[in-house]
Amino acid sequence: MLFRQALDTIGRVNQKPINRRFPFHSCSFSSDGLWVPYLIWFEQCKQVKAFDAYEFFLLACNIANLRRIIESGGGLAEFVVAKKSLSVARPPEVSAAEGAGLPVAGLTAHQALTQSAGVKLDGSGNRKNILITAASGGVGHYAVQLAKLGNTHVTATCGARNIEFVKSLGADEVLDYKTPEGAALKSPSGKKYDAVIHCTAGVPWSTFEPNLSENGKVIDITPGPSAIMTFAFKELTFSKKQLVPLFMTPKGENLNYLVNLVKEGKLKTVIDSEHPLSRAEDAWAISIDGHATGKIIMEQ
Ligand SMILES: NC(=O)c1ccc[n+]([C@@H]2O[C@H](COP(=O)([O-])OP(=O)(O)OC[C@H]3O[C@@H](n4cnc5c(N)ncnc54)[C@H](OP(=O)(O)O)[C@@H]3O)[C@@H](O)[C@H]2O)c1
Repeated sequence: MLFRQALDTIGRVNQKPINRRFPFHSCSFSSDGLWVPYLIWFEQCKQVKAFDAYEFFLLACNIANLRRIIESGGGLAEFVVAKKSLSVARPPEVSAAEGAGLPVAGLTAHQALTQSAGVKLDGSGNRKNILITAASGGVGHYAVQLAKLGNTHVTATCGARNIEFVKSLGADEVLDYKTPEGAALKSPSGKKYDAVIHCTAGVPWSTFEPNLSENGKVIDITPGPSAIMTFAFKELTFSKKQLVPLFMTPKGENLNYLVNLVKEGKLKTVIDSEHPLSRAEDAWAISIDGHATGKIIMEQ
């Protein structure tokens, strides 16, 4: 299906601010020529008349962008092609901006908690202790809310300015990552973590290890080479404590689940800032700086 995007979000997955290459399958925004690649592609599209009918299927667009982001850097486009199976209708109760945060950040938080950490979001499972790092960020702020729906005890890390914000999302304990206790990731109440949803980078395994419960897992959404090596070592040595690198796999049913949570008022998208597509560089600069609170939204 062909979609016209109304809103998109920007995150540090986008490695380059402006995509100056034009893969045939995409019609990426560029300050030096949106329309040329768009027109070439548009003429080839047999279902060109379909797009008006599907304008309300906005949520799939970020997912469609993922492939382009990974292949060529830059994830902004006015038109995208997405599989119908990855598309979810946005109910009128959910604003386009609220919806735009869900397909990457929301789904990553959902997958980390449910598939990797084994949290049941209806609260029916054993009560787990969860640590969420960078809980004020795009993925982290969804993870805190979802973890609380799953009846977990949440310890969170963020900067001092966001402590009250992260508590307001439901976190039971919050650590300032710039303090010695925060850097050590120690739960103030002495809890050992059954799972860590790790949304920032640069924390060695030796910092996690003493804070994990016997079968504790670190679910790393920013895995670098040392995390991959730790993962392999823990697997090979049948370690009970594990590091799990996570790369989000989009699923329409999970997106539908998240949209409904927003509709029912059980999950919210916190917006750091909104930017027109013509100022994409501003949005990217905020993102790459690494200090956003919630999601950065692009208006197309
Ligand atoms: N694996 C996947 O499928 C997947 C999917 C989505 C995103 N990601 C990756 O996940 C990472 C997080 O993305 P995001 O968009 O959620 O992040 P983000 O929104 O850029 O996070 C920014 C927030 O993190 C806080 N922060 C920065 N360093 C911190 C630290 N050491 N400890 C605690 N908090 C810290 C900042 O607080 P202050 O301003 O107070 O410093 C800021 O509020 C990115 O690297 C992204 O590429 C991976």
